[in-house]
Amino acid sequence: MKKFVALLLALVMVLSLAACGSKTADTDQPTDDGDSAAAEFTTANKGVLTMATNATFPPYEYVEGNQVVGIDAEIAAAIADKLGLELQIEDMEFDSIIEAVKSGKADIGLAGMTVTPDRQEEVNFTETYATGVQVVIVTEDSPITSVDDLFAEGNNYIIGVQRNTTGDLYTTWDLEDEGLATIDRYSKGTDAVQALKTGKVDCVVIDNEPAKAFVSEVEGLKILDTEYVEEEYAGAMSKDNQALYDAVNAALQELIADGTVQSIIDKYITAE
Ligand code: ARG
Repeated sequence: MKKFVALLLALVMVLSLAACGSKTADTDQPTDDGDSAAAEFTTANKGVLTMATNATFPPYEYVEGNQVVGIDAEIAAAIADKLGLELQIEDMEFDSIIEAVKSGKADIGLAGMTVTPDRQEEVNFTETYATGVQVVIVTEDSPITSVDDLFAEGNNYIIGVQRNTTGDLYTTWDLEDEGLATIDRYSKGTDAVQALKTGKVDCVVIDNEPAKAFVSEVEGLKILDTEYVEEEYAGAMSKDNQALYDAVNAALQELIADGTVQSIIDKYITAE
């Protein structure tokens, strides 16, 4: 029996030494109560969860004062908290987020980002945490009354979108490539909405929640009842950092399961 205990102790020592040996300067150790898997992982900056986003997308991410706030910012803060990390948010163009994640400059892209097969080839998506809908914004007196009007031969509408979002990708494939419409691409959704207001474009295709926020701020605009397409939002992570992916995804799954994510969403989006 004694021998067994001694052996066990020796084993424990060897294991903990091995654990020490494998630690690198850049390795973060979870420091919370440990309910997220205790695996080790590395982040872009030691002790920090770096989130890449494009803060032009209320209520998921937008700038208030000089801070990025919104649903994604709060979900990221909750994930960081679970993993014992500080959260740092990097605001950039929407179409720079995947590159930031792939190059390891950012640990996670959280930006109301839709899971698409093309993006799945580039990044590892976390569990989905919200649903989005592509909707069509028009002026109140617009001849466009349904999504079908965009597809009707001969109309050739000019459609405003945020560059490289799914609103851009879908309308490009479905309409522009078919010679049915022209797509005008903007760096921000609000710029596309301004272009609609000033008559430069005939409609804007964009996610429903920012659409609601923009329409409430600009007079004379409305959202069509018919939806363009429904989609799922998830976090984008590198395919080359499985340990971090596992830790972040486990934390997110816990936050979904215990209702934290829903309560964050409910804080910003009131159910109609
Ligand atoms: N859901 C759309 C997409 O993934 C739009 C996301 C835009 N997000 C943003 N933070 N600007 O393409």
